[in-house]
Amino acid sequence: MSGERTTTVLVGVTGGIAAYKSCELVRALMKRGYRVKVVMTDAATRFVTPLTFRTLTNEPVAASLWEDDPSAPVHHISLAEEADVFVIAPCTANVIAKIAQGRADDLLTTAALATEAPIVMAPAMNVHMWRDEATQENVDRLRDRGVVFVEPESGELACGDVGEGRLAPVEAIAEAVMAEAERAQDLAGRHILVTAGGTQEPIDPVRYIGNRSSGKTGFAIADEAARRGARVTLVTGPTHLADPFGVEVVRVQTALQMHAAVMERAEDVDAVVASAAVADFRPAEVARGKIKKTAAPEAIALVRNPDILAELGARQERPVLVGFAAETSDVESNARHKLEAKRCDLVVANDVSDPALGFGTDANRVAFVTRDGVEWLPMLSKRVIAREIADRLARLLGGADVE
Ligand SMILES: Cc1cc2nc3c(=O)[nH]c(=O)nc-3n(C[C@H](O)[C@H](O)[C@H](O)COP(=O)(O)O)c2cc1C
Repeated sequence: MSGERTTTVLVGVTGGIAAYKSCELVRALMKRGYRVKVVMTDAATRFVTPLTFRTLTNEPVAASLWEDDPSAPVHHISLAEEADVFVIAPCTANVIAKIAQGRADDLLTTAALATEAPIVMAPAMNVHMWRDEATQENVDRLRDRGVVFVEPESGELACGDVGEGRLAPVEAIAEAVMAEAERAQDLAGRHILVTAGGTQEPIDPVRYIGNRSSGKTGFAIADEAARRGARVTLVTGPTHLADPFGVEVVRVQTALQMHAAVMERAEDVDAVVASAAVADFRPAEVARGKIKKTAAPEAIALVRNPDILAELGARQERPVLVGFAAETSDVESNARHKLEAKRCDLVVANDVSDPALGFGTDANRVAFVTRDGVEWLPMLSKRVIAREIADRLARLLGGADVE
């Protein structure tokens, strides 16, 4: 179609016996209408020649960091930027290990580190290499960072062993690539406001009432939504996290400031993801000067802060609303109550009574509560939870009949 950019899939081929199957994968992807470019490791060129892929794709094939390609002066960066999806199939144990460590000593691994595109890996190797603790740890680490794995199959392997390690069927890999290509743009054209972090409610110029929210989940959601094509505004309380790439960040301190920042923008957004831990109360009075140790008040009077989510839910023209419920007991019933009371479309609930989960940690176990029911997810990294939330958000925005 004229004017529409063709989706580019970068196919990484590594040095395994299944490299010949990449030729079929390239054809399957081209049949689906993708522009396909191939990058190979040096070892891969011993199994299949670059000429084969060049002929299949009608594109130059990249295999070295040091090649002279006048059209692409910094080839690993241009490859990384061109890719809408990067699929590595077959993926050796070696490349899994290198990417897990962030090593970048050839063109393929350098492009993997440089790309912002989703990465799909289809491992293929001897069963003992696959089952080795080192490989499994590397796979877990990459999965936590959002890499999608198309698991190898069980069967007879090229080496004569029998077990898991055989490359997944080409069609299954192509389907996974398609799913990621769709995901990569499923929030395009949407404006999403995410709140994150905890607020700080001043007692005097140096002290405040705060909470343990790190902001990690909200930042991960903002990053994920931006990667998937949304325009994202992140309103955050104080955190130590760096601004996500391509996201407008508004930094606030107090609940009142967060309230103002959200309300100012609420009319222009399609969805609000309210992951911030907004203080329910603030000191009724803020001392002008630092309260002296000797003049400690016996009590601090508190007043209620505005309820941002409830206010958004009460609007006639409300955006799609995703609320969060960090609970220490009755997680499901509290979340269901929040869903109804604040007219949310989805409440992400979690149990913060376990110190290993929730605030400040990198992983969490959450439940998605909607009018249709409750769905508990397994323990996942916050990055992967952000992806799951964005999946639901895309569905809510796609088919939502928001009153
Ligand atoms: C005949 C042969 C077949 C191989 N098959 C595989 C394989 O299927 N999977 C794998 O992880 N390594 C396999 N290896 C080992 C890799 O080629 C080796 O680890 C190499 O360093 C990988 O380089 P690369 O990861 O940069 O492509 C094979 C080696 C040989 C000689």
